[in-house]
Amino acid sequence: MDRDAGAAERLILALDTPTVADARTLVGRLDGAVSFYKIGLELALAGGLDLAGELIAAGRRVFLDLKFLDIGNTVERAVAQAADLGVTCLTVHGHDTKTLQAAVRGRGASQTRLLAVTVLTSLDGADLAEQGIRDGLTPGDLVTHRAGLAQARGFDGVIASGQEAGRLRAVVGGDFLIVTPGIRLADAESDDQVRVVTPERAIADGADYLVVGRPITAAADPAAAAERFIAAIGAGLAHRGLTSRAAS
Ligand code: C5P
Repeated sequence: MDRDAGAAERLILALDTPTVADARTLVGRLDGAVSFYKIGLELALAGGLDLAGELIAAGRRVFLDLKFLDIGNTVERAVAQAADLGVTCLTVHGHDTKTLQAAVRGRGASQTRLLAVTVLTSLDGADLAEQGIRDGLTPGDLVTHRAGLAQARGFDGVIASGQEAGRLRAVVGGDFLIVTPGIRLADAESDDQVRVVTPERAIADGADYLVVGRPITAAADPAAAAERFIAAIGAGLAHRGLTSRAAS
């Protein structure tokens, strides 16, 4: 993953399917359009880790989204296992230095990129207060604080909503990856995502990679839908003055 990637390389398809067979069907339909897949908890618990190995062996990239959070020893060893599998990136809850440093140790010399989850977008100020996080701290403040912590401890980037991307980019500078879910084309339904942003807007504001699920997976023609997202990413890159080169 790099900040100079072309438009097609920046699209990560969320394989949120209940079975590996369903995921394989999608991968087959998207062959040639999509080369980067996110595997989360649902599919991982249904054989998705074997599928991850197959995709990697076939030259695809895999984002393992299991959002690790545990004692340091466990996080370190889990990250080392994922790095051995050859995943391109994975998520860790970025709450504290001990967890972040354990993940960095587990990654070792591998190329696996570490992405911090700062504050889940499903949580609002009242949820944070319930956790004891008070003093008027907003989710946005905590996102910024935790992103800075992750960057200082050697992480490669964060997961952030499109609405946070611009503010975060200003804080973390140019070299830190911002990976953004909750993306919808301008004319689309938002499903259960509440704070949706278009691909052009997210990329123009500083997101590097976009995670897209249902707008592609539930489309009548998923490959055509993926191409629309890639074109929109290209338009966002043009806003940033970056050219969009072909996927490699
Ligand atoms: O289908 P849709 O495009 O909404 O899928 C978005 C993907 O991004 C899902 O896999 C979801 O779990 C993930 N995600 C998210 N919001 C976050 C973090 C991850 O929607 N804050």
